[in-house]
Amino acid sequence: MIFDSHAHYNDDRFNEDRFALLDSMPDKNVGMIMNSCSDICEIPDIIELCKNYDFVYGSVGVHPHEAEHMKQSDIDELIKWSKHDKIKAIGEIGLDYYYDNSPRDLQKKWFANQIELAIDLDMPIVIHDRDAHGDCMDILRAYRGKVRGEFHCYSGSVEMAREVLDMGMYIAFGGSLTFKNAHRPQEVALYVPMDRMLVETDCPYLTPVPYRGMRNDSSYIKYVIEAISRIKNIPVQEVEDITFNNAKRLFDI
Ligand code: NI
Repeated sequence: MIFDSHAHYNDDRFNEDRFALLDSMPDKNVGMIMNSCSDICEIPDIIELCKNYDFVYGSVGVHPHEAEHMKQSDIDELIKWSKHDKIKAIGEIGLDYYYDNSPRDLQKKWFANQIELAIDLDMPIVIHDRDAHGDCMDILRAYRGKVRGEFHCYSGSVEMAREVLDMGMYIAFGGSLTFKNAHRPQEVALYVPMDRMLVETDCPYLTPVPYRGMRNDSSYIKYVIEAISRIKNIPVQEVEDITFNNAKRLFDI
């Protein structure tokens, strides 16, 4: 069975068929889903999904896009929701210098604050790092040995992956591994040991080839798993099983 370690089923693009689609997942070989959170206002919907589906778990956190609006009382909200038995991580948190939707100093501040929260709560973090590798690693280095978690949709180099792995983190691969010019993600996938790999959709975004451009869902992860199988020269079933168990271990499920 497949563990989709990063999905957004609360997204509006699933409004038409959310429940039918989730109902169909076990028949499509998808065994578990971690639904990621981008803002406080999404949490009730995520909790609802977790309640309705045994195989859906969630994280709580504020995405760097929303850093500008984040306030200290949001930390209390995160603490409150983190106690729910299906909430297994703090995320997605991090830095996004591609869109720069929030000022960078605020992105850094709330990234660090939410890392500290995760350490206090003894929960893993889900990191969003887009075009911000330098600052992201600088912040993480300050918490080395204390913070645990994963890089969602990893886009760094092999060299950076070495340091990320040294920190004990996991690295997640998604649709971009299947794209035509995905030389760097492929190099990274070749480098990262199997026991530190996760697979994810980030659905509704980042749909793998051959469905690139369409709405993504967890069933399309099989194309990512096939890509890893080819790159690592390991049977598909083994990639599925190992990444499933890795995600369970990381999220304490
Ligand atoms: Ni995401």
